[in-house]
Amino acid sequence: MPDALQNEITRYTAANPKSAALQERAARVMPGGDSRNSIWWAPFPVYLTSGRGTHIYDVDGNERVDMVNNMTTLIVGHRHPKVIEALRGQLDRGVSFPAPSESVIKWAEILVDRVPSVDKVRFVNSGTEGTLNAIRAARAFTGRQKIAKCEGAYHGTHDIVSFSVAPNLDQAGDAMHPDAVAGFEGIPTAITEDVVVMPYNNINACEKIIRAHAHELAAVIVEPVNGQCGMIPARPEFLKGLRSLTKELGIVLIFDEVIAFRVARGGAQEHYGVTPDMTCFGKVIGGGMPVGAFGGREEIMALYDPSRGAPRVQHAGTFNGNPMTAAAGIATLELLTPAAYAELEQKGDYLRSKLRKLFSEVEAPMSVTGVASLFALQFTPDPVTDYRSFAKNDNKMTRTMFMGLLNEGYLMSNRCAGNVSTVHEAGELDGFVDAVGRVLERAGKA
Ligand SMILES: Cc1ncc(COP(=O)(O)O)c(C=O)c1O
Repeated sequence: MPDALQNEITRYTAANPKSAALQERAARVMPGGDSRNSIWWAPFPVYLTSGRGTHIYDVDGNERVDMVNNMTTLIVGHRHPKVIEALRGQLDRGVSFPAPSESVIKWAEILVDRVPSVDKVRFVNSGTEGTLNAIRAARAFTGRQKIAKCEGAYHGTHDIVSFSVAPNLDQAGDAMHPDAVAGFEGIPTAITEDVVVMPYNNINACEKIIRAHAHELAAVIVEPVNGQCGMIPARPEFLKGLRSLTKELGIVLIFDEVIAFRVARGGAQEHYGVTPDMTCFGKVIGGGMPVGAFGGREEIMALYDPSRGAPRVQHAGTFNGNPMTAAAGIATLELLTPAAYAELEQKGDYLRSKLRKLFSEVEAPMSVTGVASLFALQFTPDPVTDYRSFAKNDNKMTRTMFMGLLNEGYLMSNRCAGNVSTVHEAGELDGFVDAVGRVLERAGKA
């Protein structure tokens, strides 16, 4: 049988000649033509020109349904009129200022109101800066150095979290006690000993690891929904167990809700009823503009207070809390009413159940993970609950599906994760499931 992946690539290449030419031009001035690894794929990515609602358009005139929404960010779709109106209004008043503006207070009030564990919050421009600062605060607060993170968890691009994000299994050690593996070159080797790696969703194994390092651990950082391995929801007892352990041992519990904040009005911590000490935000809270934030307990956030002499932890940033991002963020958060969350969850449930039905009908060796508006296709029939089970994915099929869906007019992340926005309609979700079915058929899997 002809190679299904190659067939999809051939079709893709024929349909996207202008994107191919732009990739060639880009490669002359950027390494591999790229500035953001997560949106680069071989043989070349599509170059987008515009988006509206659920639709995105590229330089070759292709129209696709966006199933990834800038990696979970655009929760109300592209160019929502309320968000555009807020941005236009701010554009007319000025895009950035050398002193604060009132809107940043309103934005902070919304987060503090929605997330009871957040007494105080600070804004940054990426989720990376959010996790970096939450970890730094935990170190300053506890006087300890080490952090514990889960294998298969992505918390941004700074050094200390760049371990065991997607390690080769032959280097990763025992599943119940994984080794810390640097994700790429250039990370200071000396910090390896400051990273403790734990298996996601296994509270017994985590307890042993955390107790063994308790007196040195500043923080445990965890995603209540693991994005990197396919939107895997934490088991409730996992988060509850981490909460009681960290409380007992004086370790700061950080929830990375850069993606998981999509799950409920008060974030995944509301959904699970678990209260962390610190929370990192990003993506949806900026309405499509560059963003991040971190917040939490009063006494930890007080380390950043400049009003009583030099803060114990210094923190500047030319675009922190900038008024354009605040405008888009406020407009988006105001659209996210309890009814909007209920609808997002209902759409996510609908999509996941239709996909499961398809896989069982065509007997595809696949499963679906996700919660609320988040979902991912897994090319393994076994339950995916952590990095090791995720690593059983048939990577060639993931690529075939990703390319095939591009050919069918749908964009997912290149790991075949996706999410729905408030503006996706049932017909588009049905169309997506049918397209998945057609790609499986072309690949001989249905
Ligand atoms: C869970 C999580 N944390 C942190 C980050 C880093 O955010 P940013 O890309 O804005 O730096 C991401 C980005 O995808 C993420 O998914």
